[in-house]
Amino acid sequence: MKLMIKDNKQEFDYAGAMEILNLIKEKPNAVIGLATGNTPKGMYDILGDLCKEKQVDFSRVTTLNLDEYLGIESSNSGSCKSYLNKRLYTKVNLKQENIHHLNSNPEDYEKECCRYNNLINDLGGIDLLILGIGHNGHLGFNEPNTPFDSMVHICNLTDKTRTANIWSFGSKDKVPKKGVSMGIKNIMNSKRLMLLANGDSKSQIIYKALKGKVTEEVPASVLQLHNDVVVVLDREAGKILL
Ligand code: F6R
Repeated sequence: MKLMIKDNKQEFDYAGAMEILNLIKEKPNAVIGLATGNTPKGMYDILGDLCKEKQVDFSRVTTLNLDEYLGIESSNSGSCKSYLNKRLYTKVNLKQENIHHLNSNPEDYEKECCRYNNLINDLGGIDLLILGIGHNGHLGFNEPNTPFDSMVHICNLTDKTRTANIWSFGSKDKVPKKGVSMGIKNIMNSKRLMLLANGDSKSQIIYKALKGKVTEEVPASVLQLHNDVVVVLDREAGKILL
């Protein structure tokens, strides 16, 4: 596990963006999995700027989103698709046909999970998967006690997770109760993982996930078992590790 603890938020955002830039330089047709949330916002902004300056070329890159809320239109401003559209797709030169999404309103939930599992396989797997971490250790929408062998699946969002995501929907009653997410096994099958966390409020869970017992009760603890993980933190999130 490679650990980077950055002095401030700006350096943190930049370090995440550099990992992606370097991967694309190494492998121009890389398949990248994308998390949403507050944490990677600044990193996506930097990638947009770097692309404008022609320092990174997304024209052969393929993306897949990590998770999505269920039971809303994809055009809903709180959806992960809308977030990525606003922060990344409209800012870099990704080709439309190379942008893949979990459907937030499928007719058949189980079929949608199958489609996405097959899609990941057909694309040859994920070269780099970007992850944030919930205060309870969740990865994607894999809440505590999600089996480590889970593939793309329907998830019940905990009250804590719904409260943490009020910012993207405006009020708690608008935050969906269900989501669909790559499972822990999909995450672990990715060739490289990048976990991002910033701010004091993430310090305890980061310590637990990286130094504590590997257990389904703390989904992010599974990362200790992956052989190619980059963890990028700011000083606050890393303060117990220091
Ligand atoms: C979002 C996702 C979630 C977030 C996590 C942290 O696509 O996968 O697991 O990464 O909830 O969210 P923030 O970054 O808002 O603290």
